[in-house]
Amino acid sequence: MIKREKVKSLLETTDFNRDVTVMGWVRTFRNNQFIAINDGSCMGNIQIVVDFANTAEDLLKRITTGAAIAVTGTLIESLGKGQKVEVKATTIEILGDSDPEKFPLQPKKHSLEFLREIAHLRFRTNTFNAVFKVRHALSFAIHQFYNERGFVYMHTPVITASDAEGAGEMFKVTTLDFDNTPRTEDGKIDFSEDFFGRATNLTVSGQLEGELAAMAFGQIYTFGPTFRAENSNTTRHLAEFWMIEPEVAFADLEDNMQLAEDMMKYVISYALENCKEEIEFLNSRLLEDEKTKPQNERSELSLIEKLNFCLNNEFQRLTYTEAIAILRSSKPNQKKQFKYLINEWGADLQSEHERFLVEKHFKKPVILTDYPADIKSFYMRQNEPDAEGRKTVAAMDILFPGIGEMIGGSQREERLDKLTQRMQELNIPQEELWWYLDTRKFGSAPHAGFGLGFERLVLFVTGMTNIRDVIAFPRYPKNAEF
Ligand code: 4AD
Ligand code: MG
Repeated sequence: MIKREKVKSLLETTDFNRDVTVMGWVRTFRNNQFIAINDGSCMGNIQIVVDFANTAEDLLKRITTGAAIAVTGTLIESLGKGQKVEVKATTIEILGDSDPEKFPLQPKKHSLEFLREIAHLRFRTNTFNAVFKVRHALSFAIHQFYNERGFVYMHTPVITASDAEGAGEMFKVTTLDFDNTPRTEDGKIDFSEDFFGRATNLTVSGQLEGELAAMAFGQIYTFGPTFRAENSNTTRHLAEFWMIEPEVAFADLEDNMQLAEDMMKYVISYALENCKEEIEFLNSRLLEDEKTKPQNERSELSLIEKLNFCLNNEFQRLTYTEAIAILRSSKPNQKKQFKYLINEWGADLQSEHERFLVEKHFKKPVILTDYPADIKSFYMRQNEPDAEGRKTVAAMDILFPGIGEMIGGSQREERLDKLTQRMQELNIPQEELWWYLDTRKFGSAPHAGFGLGFERLVLFVTGMTNIRDVIAFPRYPKNAEF
């Protein structure tokens, strides 16, 4: 193919009056004269000036929104408003037509709900160009952060036989014939006949395998897809999401909190520096959006201010017990405005409580620690019971404004007797996790880690409000299109 130049580099150049070839998709075609093309290399379009008197009419007709075209012409300094360069076309070739009657993306504002239905085309809008550039930058920044600190990137299995979180929210993986399932004598499905010779599922977390690796490399992280078959139809939940899970040997909860805070600040600041154009676009998009809301629902900070605020302030650290005291005496609790009232210690926090703490009370990211053992997973390290005999674990959840839980993690229970005792209490089969327990038998050591929900991070940094808009093809109950 003829060598093309990217729109991004043409918009930045001052080397005018030379022949160039650009290829891209038509965004608009005005007055049979000005084509705006976008090739995805940046958010901006380049303007093509068509010599309309000398261009065949049937070619002009085929220059429609969405069509792919190749243009060769002279790059000139533009005198028009709004652009510095343009291409005076000498030849225009249609690479792929786009029927204007049928192409669903028109040069106007579409709702995000509508765009979700055409997720295969929504990348071609400015908003999704910006969102996915930021998503790319954040994932690159995460690898860079851990690489700079000497962490080893582990690829943990997608198909497993264990339920890492012990919550039973798993998608089954099987090749058994549903119309003719093999049965055991007592009538249960006989998984010994299945592909792996046992029941398997898609992973809900790479943590358990990550811990095994941390017990050799000292510090590792995973970054991969995870699956939860929870029936949550919210703007914060996906059935398939990407998770980053670092795991560090010879580390306690303090170290874990510090690592998480450092990572969050590093990647947010990377995005601010490397996605200026995109974040500025998203910032103004949000400001426009805010204008349509009643005054009391508008946020106090713009997107960029919010990101900077997060960089310049220490995350608020407090224990679950302290949080319960704040919530119990809070206005919405006293006035019975919470849907779930906080009456006693031990209650699980709902998102309304998390949002109150983060958005109303502290107005900054919050790290909540030392949750009641009964509402957390089996692998978390057991604290000494407090003066009132209440049992807590060395857990931490990091809550973000507008998001709620961004990170969940803990110091791990490294003491074999305490771990097996807890597994027994929770009915977690020890035989299946023999390999996990082995690390506690052979050179066990204090260690800690956490999981960051990648899409929740992308939500925060882009200021988007629905998690389905920050992953290319969202999976959620009753939806697996594309
Ligand atoms: O709190 P979770 O369930 O923790 C774990 O999976 C641990 N094994 C992590 C660890 O310690 N290594 O999930 C971690 C994070 C949550 O804080 C949230 O950001 C995200 O994963 N998350 C989801 N994101 C989108 N959709 C869902 N359904 C999510 N469930 C959890
Ligand atoms: Mg959690």
